[in-house]
Amino acid sequence: MSGPNSSYDPVQVTPLGEEQVFAMRDEALAAIEAAADLEALKQVRSDHAGDRSPLGLANREIGALPPQARKDVGMRVGQARGAVNQALAARQEVLEEAAEEQMLLTETVDVTLPWDRRSRGARHPITTMSERIADTFVAMGWEVAEGPLVEAEWLNFDALNLGADHPARTMQDTFWTEPAENHVVLRTHTSPVQARTMLTRTPPIYVVCPGRVFRTDEYDATHSPMFHQVEGLVIDEGITMAHLKGSLDHFAQATFGEGITTRFRPSYFPFTEPSAEVDLICFVCRGSGLNETGDATCRTCRGEGWIEWGGCGVVNPRVLVACGVDPERYTGFAFGMGIDRTLMFRHGVEDLRSFFEGDVRFSRAFGTEI
Ligand code: PHE
Repeated sequence: MSGPNSSYDPVQVTPLGEEQVFAMRDEALAAIEAAADLEALKQVRSDHAGDRSPLGLANREIGALPPQARKDVGMRVGQARGAVNQALAARQEVLEEAAEEQMLLTETVDVTLPWDRRSRGARHPITTMSERIADTFVAMGWEVAEGPLVEAEWLNFDALNLGADHPARTMQDTFWTEPAENHVVLRTHTSPVQARTMLTRTPPIYVVCPGRVFRTDEYDATHSPMFHQVEGLVIDEGITMAHLKGSLDHFAQATFGEGITTRFRPSYFPFTEPSAEVDLICFVCRGSGLNETGDATCRTCRGEGWIEWGGCGVVNPRVLVACGVDPERYTGFAFGMGIDRTLMFRHGVEDLRSFFEGDVRFSRAFGTEI
């Protein structure tokens, strides 16, 4: 590097003359203005304000100039660098602001947008209960049997010892389909599945059949023209009422908890002989008929200590004969319960219609048990 000169030779200073320095400055200012983002500005800073930029190099040259020139050029270059640095700082601020705005824009979460997560929904409590009941019997080796909802009159009534003029036909108010001469009904109970099963299988038979049934009942808090029953049928050698009682006690325990037993009251069904009504010992008061504090009646059984649950009996030999089963060799038992009714007292549901009106808040209360 050349040492400082004592005389001022304008020719020597030409490369750092006004024009050149202004050109460097203007080029830098233009580049700064053109920088579109912070990344570009960083590059502009190193190109136009760094040690190796034209102005940076010019700055280094100043020391080698004659003293007179040093002052002029120093001021000129200093001003140019000042202007460039100022422009850089200003541009930096503008671009930072823009970047932040962009970030806010792209990362915005609009919490008012519609929610697109679908609720999982719940299975219908009657479906859950039906399957639960079926599971109890399947666990004992029984099978699940099914039959059609629209049924032949013969299977719904005649095969079950309910002939055309049998007074008990009026016990079940029937929906008949047209034309009447087809003798087709909406099944009034699940018992035709008994007949269908015996007609298509050979004993031993152990089946359970949950399903819909129809009666011309008013639609009110305790009746519905469509409701659900579960039928059980066993046909085997040496089957007695004791097997029936044992099976129902097991069913009661599986559904209502340990220690819950059943009692039989004599009754009449054309398809069973003898027949009985099945009562369940109240699973809340356990037969006492009193509430927890003992000063009022139990709300679940209304003070009875027992709850009516369904019908049952030993299969009438006439039904066995009608369905092609040898009554000398086989005996059997059958039972039928209302599923909706079972759920009502099991969960304290006051109005049967709650099951059928489709309000998810009701179904949800039973959980999403699968
Ligand atoms: N099917 C009868 C009813 O609906 C119930 C029942 C079934 C009774 C099986 C005895 C045996 O009332």
